[in-house]
Amino acid sequence: MKIFAIESSCDDTAVAVVQDGRKLLNHKVSSQINDHKIYGGVVPEVASRKHIENISPLVSAVINELNLKFTDLDAIAVTYAPGLVGSLLVGVNFAKGLSLATGLPLVPVHHIKAHIASLYFSNPDLKPPFLCLVVSGGHSHIVEVLDYTKFKVIGRTRDDAAGEAFDKIGRRLGFDYPGGVELDKAAEKGDPNSFKLPIPLKDEENTYDFSFSGLKTAMMNIINGFKQKNESLPIYDLSATFRQSVVNCLVNNFIRAAKDKKYSTLAIAGGVSANSLLRRRLNEEADVNNFNFYMPELKFCSDNAAMVGAQGYYEFLSGKRATMDLNACASVDLEED
Ligand code: KG4
Ligand code: ZN
Repeated sequence: MKIFAIESSCDDTAVAVVQDGRKLLNHKVSSQINDHKIYGGVVPEVASRKHIENISPLVSAVINELNLKFTDLDAIAVTYAPGLVGSLLVGVNFAKGLSLATGLPLVPVHHIKAHIASLYFSNPDLKPPFLCLVVSGGHSHIVEVLDYTKFKVIGRTRDDAAGEAFDKIGRRLGFDYPGGVELDKAAEKGDPNSFKLPIPLKDEENTYDFSFSGLKTAMMNIINGFKQKNESLPIYDLSATFRQSVVNCLVNNFIRAAKDKKYSTLAIAGGVSANSLLRRRLNEEADVNNFNFYMPELKFCSDNAAMVGAQGYYEFLSGKRATMDLNACASVDLEED
């Protein structure tokens, strides 16, 4: 079964064709990073306009390269939530038009579920149930993947997402958007114990939730201290310290949740799952605790449509369909989708 997939929830326009949920036939991503870099973050109006410009040529390129006709496909999957509503609308409306013109069924896909499905390409033996840490620019969730289309969120951020915190501190350290990527590289050259940062939610033993705003404020204060004294910022040490604190929060809660809930299979997904320290630390934890641990390929960590095609396949099998009433939604809980 061939699923045609569209993703446009933030600043990447992406199109893919996926076979049987696990095999990628073709995909393309048109990144808008250069359009947003000058503003230091995503400008929603610019993102929508760029999606409109990019989507049609991208769809034609993916289909033409495969020498396929739309009649060779079985369904159209599209990310409808969560994300920037003006961005999502471009993908949703394009998919609705395509479904109307071709008669192919339309399958709505939740973006976080799609991130989890990004794991299925390079890990053919990975099957639910497993525990997944989904960390991106917009989300930080610990999710019980009970089945391909059944999920339970047991931990979430109470304020910033991990990627958002990385990007904001990265910006203050002078890195281009998205700062998380550069911060990760700089951190490799620094001493992670150079500065003392607070441990968020340390008195709450019964939660798997995260909080990164206190860490962010503490970092801002350290950075401002250097600026007030007109001293140059020790970029590498600051990056290493912040990265270690964020990764400690993610790893500690995730491993505690896995042990409490008796999961033996663990996985990570989302843009921040590309973080080199997070990958190393979870690999070490998996060795020590005998977990089976899965990661997406780096190219599938950030937003793409392959993952939408993978999840779209499982949603299609479960009977999920959208009508022409499908709307883009900025926020839909994973369990309410
Ligand atoms: O999944 P994604 O592409 O978009 C959302 O759904 O939000 O994630 C983008 C986020 C950005 O915040 C970016 O800084 C972060 O992923 N990111 C990283 C790394 N690579 C991307 N954060 C830390 N370390 C990285 N290596
Ligand atoms: Zn994403």
